Amino acid sequence: MNILLSGGTGYIGSHTCTELLNAGHSVVTFDNLSNSEEKVNDAVVRITGKPFKFYLADMLDMDALRVIFEENTFDAVIHFAGLKAVGESVQLPLKYYHNNITGTLNLLSLIEEYHVKSFVFSSSATVYGDPASLPITEDFPLGTTNPYGSTKLMIEQILKDFYAANSGVSISILRYFNPVGAHESGEIGENPKGIPNNLMPYIAKVAAGQLEALNVFGDRYPTRDGTGIRDYIHVVDLAIGHLKALEKNADTTGVHIYNLGTGTGYSVLEVLRAMEAACGHTIPYKIAPPRSGDIAACYADPGKAQKELGWAAERDLKQMCEDAWRWQKKNLNL
Ligand code: NAD
Ligand code: WQD
Repeated sequence: MNILLSGGTGYIGSHTCTELLNAGHSVVTFDNLSNSEEKVNDAVVRITGKPFKFYLADMLDMDALRVIFEENTFDAVIHFAGLKAVGESVQLPLKYYHNNITGTLNLLSLIEEYHVKSFVFSSSATVYGDPASLPITEDFPLGTTNPYGSTKLMIEQILKDFYAANSGVSISILRYFNPVGAHESGEIGENPKGIPNNLMPYIAKVAAGQLEALNVFGDRYPTRDGTGIRDYIHVVDLAIGHLKALEKNADTTGVHIYNLGTGTGYSVLEVLRAMEAACGHTIPYKIAPPRSGDIAACYADPGKAQKELGWAAERDLKQMCEDAWRWQKKNLNL
């Protein structure tokens, strides 16, 4: 297949690009590099041995997007591009709505015009808000608590409306749980700018001595050790989920929604211990107040993806930490 990736130099985009190339697909990517670097493309070529076309383009720039669709023919588009920092979205809601929503509308208008039949969208478990029970299935009530999450929910609705008017297309909405880890080569991984917001990159920087101590946000949650529980999923497993979604799209039409998680939740302290085992030394931490907007626990029922896509996460927490640590060590100067 010929596949376009928006946000292709980003964390999940670059891992998916790698898996697509390894599987023999032809890939074109674009990114405005607002949260990634062009050298990621060289790393993907080093892993796969396969070149691919990259466009430096902003999805808010229709002319730049049109060039990509004029110069190539696509069987499918996987849409990763977007801003994703929850806290920043509260401070800068208009920036998030404009970038994520307008950017998606631009992309969809070209998909319609150039008759691309298959679309995969990066949604998030954040659309479930604070779930009433666990594990979370795809039919749980939806609701969000921040503008970032609202952009995901709004785009899901836009995609349903888009399908209603374009009944020949097939759309997969993938609700990711907590992607972590890195490619086992250590060539690509998560490279957040500034101080990380998310747990795994923060712990990795503490482990490397670049940050003083992990702040554990709350130890009084109603969980087994009082710290927050999440469904961490290895980014390579997540990437492979996109290949499965493309196969599903090729066989059908409609809007298909899947949780991509492992189905197992780990607490903050369990992740910390697993990272200590991976790096071979203790990692300092202190208990801090709960972070505003956080929920106690969240993990997926991934049964629908297993049944309909034939996909299940295979990499465990140990491998997530070992791969994150290998990436961190290789990139101490990032
Ligand atoms: P990322 O920031 O590493 O990648 C997103 C890429 O999109 C970046 O390279 C950025 O430069 C690019 N981008 C942003 N706005 C753009 C624009 N206007 N035009 C062109 N490129 C643009 O993030 P990621 O972790 O790889 O996330 C990919 C997608 O998955 C995002 O849509 C994100 O919301 C979603 N998601 C991520 C997580 C997570 O925890 N990482 C969880 C759930 C969903
Ligand atoms: C995980 C756990 C924290 C940092 C976010 C987004 C979500 C999705 C994935 C995009 C929680 C605790 C964290 C730290 C800590 N992204 N923690 N100290 O909040 O589950 O999800 O990323 O769609 O939308 O909200 O992930 O990694 O930030 O936190 O104690 O320094 O680690 O309280 O329990 P979260 P996270």
